[in-house]
Formats: sequence, structure tokens, C-alpha cells
Amino acid sequence: MPMSPRRRILVTSALPYANGQIHLGHLVEYIQTDIFVRFQKLRGHHAIYLCADDTHGTAIMIRARAENRTEQDLIASMRQSHLNDFQGFQIDFDHYSSTDSPTNRRLCSELWTALRTAELITSREVRQLYDPVAGVFLADRFVRGTCPKCSASDQYGDTCEQCGATYTPTDLLNPKSTLSGATPVERSAEHLFLKLESLHAFLENWTQSSGVIPREVARYLLGNFLCDPLRDWDLSRPAPYFGFEIPDAPGHYWYVWFDAPIGYIAATSEWCDTHAESLDSWWRDATAEIHHFIGKDIIYFHTLFWPAMLHAAGLSLPTKVRIHGFLTVNGQKMSKSRGTFIMAR
Ligand code: 2FM
Ligand code: ZN
Repeated sequence: MPMSPRRRILVTSALPYANGQIHLGHLVEYIQTDIFVRFQKLRGHHAIYLCADDTHGTAIMIRARAENRTEQDLIASMRQSHLNDFQGFQIDFDHYSSTDSPTNRRLCSELWTALRTAELITSREVRQLYDPVAGVFLADRFVRGTCPKCSASDQYGDTCEQCGATYTPTDLLNPKSTLSGATPVERSAEHLFLKLESLHAFLENWTQSSGVIPREVARYLLGNFLCDPLRDWDLSRPAPYFGFEIPDAPGHYWYVWFDAPIGYIAATSEWCDTHAESLDSWWRDATAEIHHFIGKDIIYFHTLFWPAMLHAAGLSLPTKVRIHGFLTVNGQKMSKSRGTFIMAR
């Protein structure tokens, strides 16, 4: 009987944030990915399962401060905890990396250079709320105040849980920083953006006709994003920020969602180093397959931003983005306050 050709299949699960424990929702994804990889290996294909901790961003920086330790110390202990949980559930990664690795920093620089060379980066000032006591710019979830529509107090910076209104944190009445309690001030800083609209035709073609994503997701992208000009994607954060400083923009850091997916490539590179394989044979070779398993909350990162970055850098695009829904408990989102937040352990 003729043997079917041995496929080369690179498989990833979304990288879990280092600022939280592994919970039941994560396991929905890691277990199905693990089953897929075991199945492909049993069929005799050359499959590798790669993942990493997603370590950067404001949340880790703030937590490290609160616990009076370095970010590196915090992410090292979270990594150990994640690995213990994965081992307990027999999730069998071929390699588990960290986005805070030297390999990832190098690859981020390479992709960044490719984006600059393709003239896809632009800069402009962004006005944002700033906590003068904590000394940081405030992401929406770090601001609370009174809803400008219904006057409900103690609402988040982006939506009101009482009336459902959405707004920007600068619209909140009586805004307070959740970090220090201080009243935030508006401040502007330069940010660097990816000119996504320049890649509109490519993204439309790739999402709509390649069969990489489920048909209903392709339609969702067309109806919600690709029907209009694509907005520039904010790729940088001003200091202080826990991440990699942008080599040609001192004082600015790559936004966590820039370096996180590049972690897929960094994990591959580290695995290749110990298995005498070349990175290009996975990420610059059309015969190798790349399968990303993700939840539906991060669809546009993996079907718009990530392919845009890969395309601009001349790297392989995902073969399949495999998308699952949310795990719910009693039909609702897991919640610490309702006592339905189930950690893996
Ligand atoms: O949503 C999350 O939990 C992210 N940490 C997933 C990152 S996946 C990737 F692109 F790196
Ligand atoms: Zn309201």
C-alpha cells in the first residue's frame, strides 16, 4: 500500500498570560490541541506542539510592583506553576518557551525591521489617562468612575455594567485610578502604529478565500472589519512598560500583542536548536503546515494583525486557525465572585 507523505505540522495553543493561573477555560484549548498533536504523531506525521508563557504588559508590571519583586522573578514563578498544571493534565508540549526570551527579542527586531522596510509603520500622538502617583498610563480597566450616561458609580473605563454604555475613559465622571486612587490626568505620548489598511487587499483575500478560517468567522471579519478601511494598529507603549524596548525608538516598548505571537516563532527556533532542524524549514517553507488553536476572543489578532505581520516579513501564513468558543459554568462566564472560577489544579 502506498504510504501517505509524512506531513510537517507545527501546532500551537494560545500563550497563557503570566499574570494568572491556568484555569478550566485554558484546558479546553490545551487538551484539544494535545489530542490533535498526539493523533497526527500516531499517524506518523512530523508534528510539534509549541507554546510559551505570555509575559509582558502593564498587568505584570503592576503586580510585580505590588508584590515588591522584579517582573522576572514573578514570571519565573508563574512559569513553574503553569508547567506543574500542564504536567498534571499530561499536556505534552514539545517545547514551552517564554516571550521574555532573548530569541523572542531578536525575532521581534527582525519582524520590526521588515515592517519598517515595507514602510508600514507610522507615528502619532495619543492622548490617554495617566496616573500621576503610580507614574503609568492607564489601560481602560485601570480606571473607574461614574458612567456619563446613567450616572452609575464605580464603572470601568470602557463600559458601564449597569446600562451597557460604551465610552472612552476620558468620558468617565470622577475618574479614579485603580492603582493608586489618584485622579488621572490626560497626557499625550507618541505611539507607533502599523498601517493595516495598506494590507487590506491581502487580508481580505486571505481571510475570505484561503479556507484557513471557518466560513462564519470569515463572514464576521468581512462584516465587522474588512467592510471599512482598517484602522492603524497601535504597536507601541511609552515607558514605563514591561516588555522589549524598541531598538530604533528608545523609551518606547512593543505592545504585548506584538511580541506574543512572535513567541510562536521563537519557541520554534528554540526547539529547532535542540533538534538539528532549521527555523526556515517551518516558517519559510510552503510545505510545512502551521495550525493555531485559539479562543474566539482573540480572532482578530490571529486573522488580521498576525497574518499582516507574517506577510510583511515574508514568513509563512497559518495553514489553519482553529477557533473554539468560551467555556461557561451554569451558562455564565466563570467568575471569582460567584465562586465558579475553576482553576486547573
Ligand atoms: O489572550 C490571551 O490569553 C493571550 N495571552 C494569548 C496570546 S496568543 C499569542 F498570540 F501569543
Ligand atoms: Zn451607565
